[in-house]
Amino acid sequence: MAFSRREFVRRLGAGGAAVASAAHIIGYGQEELLAFVGEAQGQRGPMLAGTIKLSSNENLRGPSPKVIAALRQHPSKDLGLGYPPPTVSAFEAALATFSGAKPENVIMATGSGEILTAAVMAYCSPDRALVTADPSYSSPNGTAQSIKAPVKLTPVDARLRLDLEALIRGSIGAGLVFLCNPNNPTSSVHTMSDIERAVRTIKERSPQTGILIDEAYLEYATLPGSGSMVKLALELPGVFISRTFSKAYGLAGLRMGYAVGQPETMRKVGRAWGLGSINELQAVAGIAALSDTAHMEWEKGENKRVRDWTQAQFKAMGFDSPDSQTNFIFVNIRKPAVQFRDACRAQGVAVGRDFPPMEKTYARISLGRMEDMEKAMVVFKQVLS
Ligand SMILES: Cc1ncc(COP(=O)(O)O)c(C=O)c1O
Repeated sequence: MAFSRREFVRRLGAGGAAVASAAHIIGYGQEELLAFVGEAQGQRGPMLAGTIKLSSNENLRGPSPKVIAALRQHPSKDLGLGYPPPTVSAFEAALATFSGAKPENVIMATGSGEILTAAVMAYCSPDRALVTADPSYSSPNGTAQSIKAPVKLTPVDARLRLDLEALIRGSIGAGLVFLCNPNNPTSSVHTMSDIERAVRTIKERSPQTGILIDEAYLEYATLPGSGSMVKLALELPGVFISRTFSKAYGLAGLRMGYAVGQPETMRKVGRAWGLGSINELQAVAGIAALSDTAHMEWEKGENKRVRDWTQAQFKAMGFDSPDSQTNFIFVNIRKPAVQFRDACRAQGVAVGRDFPPMEKTYARISLGRMEDMEKAMVVFKQVLS
């Protein structure tokens, strides 16, 4: 059971609504901020009211009802305490327990996007390159460019997966290797053993190179053998994972993410960039979200049901997409994404932005609720026919 953001705000009640809607408006996910950059460059117009938003890999089912209940029931007097907010250290402890780690292994941030920025700031410089896949999540690339660090773009392989061998080759002497697993926008995942082999090889050949494994979409991966690299992050210096509450936990509007690694690695990353400070309501929501494992199982199943249906619909129309391990699909529509996007937008469906170098043929479509996808599919069929 889940509900929309509007319903989220309604259930939270009038007082909470001010907080939640402000968080929602100013706190769209990092993806949405990247899309706004596109808007500023004239790539898209305003969204029509009622548009089905399949553009930013958000979670249209929203969070667990238990998260909303916890927020509503939280004593209001605790919101008057902020130095520190009373629940934040319990949240840090809960994240550590969840990760099989200690609090000193965890850094929290107002969105995992801040961790990515901090990672590049900590490990890259004009003579220490960022190594990343192409296409992959582009914010580390943007940060590297802003500090004039070289960026080594490594094309994905024929199945649109991270090319681990090429990433290993490019990593000698690099500042940071960014491994987005599952990868946004291509939706592929590698198994834990493949990632472990790549990470160990890079560390053997280039011990000073940092390695960030971005696990933003990992909850949605169903490939046997896929999973979190947290144990390896705890074992090896300079290796760390980032995770977020913005995707499967349905809390993008509350802006919460974290990283796990060795204490010295976490200190280095935490010092490099402002990670924001976690507030009382975020901590309350985070603890409730982590403990509702039944809801997470439901969410994963629901996403898979919607994903299987949507991929099958495109396949039946003759449009292939790599087997998705995420809450979005990357479809070969055999025409420029901008044409598809504009035509869908005119009919009230927003899909993802351009993902160079594949923007001439591929479109990224986030997965909403089944009812969203059924309505959107009518538009997709019309636009692609
Ligand atoms: C791969 C990946 N990493 C990190 C982020 C940042 O997410 P957030 O800042 O909401 O945690 C996103 C956002 O879409 C993403 O796709």
